[in-house]
Amino acid sequence: MLIKIKSEREIELLRTAGHIVYLTHQYLKPFLKEGITTKEIDDKAGEFIKSCGATPSCKGYHGYPANICISINDEVVHGIAGKRKLKNGDIITLDICACYKGYHGDSAWSYPVGEVSDEAKYILKHTEQALYEGLKFAKAGNHIGDISNAVEEYANKYHLGVVKELCGHGVGNELHEEPDVPNYGIKGTGPLLKEGMTIAVEPMLTIGSPDVYMLDDDWTIKTDDGSLSAHFEHTVVIRNDGCEILTGE
Ligand code: MF3
Ligand code: CO
Repeated sequence: MLIKIKSEREIELLRTAGHIVYLTHQYLKPFLKEGITTKEIDDKAGEFIKSCGATPSCKGYHGYPANICISINDEVVHGIAGKRKLKNGDIITLDICACYKGYHGDSAWSYPVGEVSDEAKYILKHTEQALYEGLKFAKAGNHIGDISNAVEEYANKYHLGVVKELCGHGVGNELHEEPDVPNYGIKGTGPLLKEGMTIAVEPMLTIGSPDVYMLDDDWTIKTDDGSLSAHFEHTVVIRNDGCEILTGE
């Protein structure tokens, strides 16, 4: 398994790519209101990313047809923008990837649309926290399994399902690099983390069963039981004393 260690020059480009992804989230957030179509959101995302001198990494990735991934309610990942309109009470995940001078940033965030149910608030709050629980272990000398285990333990504590078919990944001049970063696992196992590795940690949790299936569009992944799902992701660089979040404020 080859896990690339990035130079500081590469990390600087990854930092810019990550910052563009962060800015795109901030730009789109105010538009996430009842009535807007997912296509309108996707168009705005594409325009904004390009205005930053970057390109939307998802577009054309293995044939993916849209600029970003937009997944609503029981859709876990890779929803494709279209004519559908947002409704009050929905939860919407924007999974945004941008490529700047050949380097990628990747961050997903789930947002409430208008006033949402207590159940929706619960899964949003605890999936976001599960990401930060995992990131506490994103540090040189730890193993991938330490991150995975922290996410899983936190999800278990709050009775949320962990989607096992999907995981985080290395990020660099490819959107998906080694290693896989699962959201479940055993402490002390898996690849050793070293300074200069860059990874995306991305818990995808569900209110009900963690089982999922793929729609006929060959992209959208949904929960089997129709229960809500949330997804929070940051790209980070591993340091000796912790991690630097590249897709944050
Ligand atoms: N952030 C998404 C992921 O890591 C990117 C999806 S690529 C696309 O899975 F092909 F779906 F666009
Ligand atoms: Co990702």
